[in-house]
Amino acid sequence: MPSLLDLTSQGDVGTISDESKLSSVKLMTPQELYELWERQNWQSHTIDFEQDRADWNDLDGDLRENIAWNLSSFFVGEERVTTQFSGLVMSYESQAEEAFLTTQQVDEARHAQHFNRFYEQVLGLDGSFEDRLARAREDLNPAFIEMFDGVLVDWGKRLIANPSDIEAKVDFVTLYHMIIEGTLALTGQWFLTDYMERNGILPGWTEGFKLISQDEHRHVAYGTWFLREKARDEGLKQRIAERLAELIPLASAVLVPPGADLGDYAILDYTMAETNAFAFNALQRRLKVIGIDTAMLSARRPDGRRATRSSRLQTLAEPGLRAGSAALLKDEPVVVEQLAFEADLVGAHAGGEGQAEVGAGQPARHQAQLQQRLAQATRADARVPLADRLDVVQTPV
Ligand SMILES: [Fe+2]
Ligand SMILES: [Fe+2]
Repeated sequence: MPSLLDLTSQGDVGTISDESKLSSVKLMTPQELYELWERQNWQSHTIDFEQDRADWNDLDGDLRENIAWNLSSFFVGEERVTTQFSGLVMSYESQAEEAFLTTQQVDEARHAQHFNRFYEQVLGLDGSFEDRLARAREDLNPAFIEMFDGVLVDWGKRLIANPSDIEAKVDFVTLYHMIIEGTLALTGQWFLTDYMERNGILPGWTEGFKLISQDEHRHVAYGTWFLREKARDEGLKQRIAERLAELIPLASAVLVPPGADLGDYAILDYTMAETNAFAFNALQRRLKVIGIDTAMLSARRPDGRRATRSSRLQTLAEPGLRAGSAALLKDEPVVVEQLAFEADLVGAHAGGEGQAEVGAGQPARHQAQLQQRLAQATRADARVPLADRLDVVQTPV
């Protein structure tokens, strides 16, 4: 009988090729994942960037800018997930879980170190780690800032305030392992690595990025294990579904390059349809193992408001959906509102013009409210819970 490692990359069921195995798969435990980490340790500081420097200088200006945007998201993302991780370590429920979680935190620090070295040695940015990070931050879109400076920080603080709060822990792992790592990071890693290898450029960066990806799959394997354990409780299972319904629209806006058309963008030479399909197919596989049917994402909230419909998750994975979203979604006011929200985030970054297509027909008061929400969400001293921040998005019109 094949082991989970034979069937998957790093015990991450999102990579399982035979989906008929999903219902019977035995997940790796934190102890097994810790031992895997010991076998796979690596050093960021020994990677050679000599060829990368030559390649970077030879790149066409537009392509260099495009790649730089993608790298900035990862550099800042790795710093964020390192510095905001401590609450989860504090929340351990067994010695094995504590051992694994400490390895994850040091992994994330190593990932940030890889990017810092690349920015210093290949992009030639002088100064400190913080100086280079500040430069990378200039490239981010508002959805990214909302997710990594807003939601991640808030939910991490909630866990630090009370590490034994199991609901706070479930929220944090849903955000961190399912959305940030499983849906965003691993998608970007797969396509960027494929692009560099197809074009034969940036070999040092690619070497480090593949090792980062190996670590990330192991992290997501832990998150899947943890959420499956907690989802045995119906209340917590419902909670995971609600958190996903809140986070998925924001996550899909994080992937959109600055100034790009929300309904039809590309990441390097991969289409929106390809990247969305990869991201959300993997998420759906993990959810199936955890025991969450995507139909749960359409469940009504206890307060009577409707959470994101399951069609939202499915449609994100369908080629070309967003280009025809207005016609397809005309009976879906909640989803249309979400698209408007995303368009608003992108539009704000693009100088206010980007929302014209998808946001067309939105009442002016909604646009104003959304702008207000965004401004509020990006002020560190004015944090409000995500559910409240997205209230305008989730309330049916
Ligand atoms: Fe990482
Ligand atoms: Fe990670």
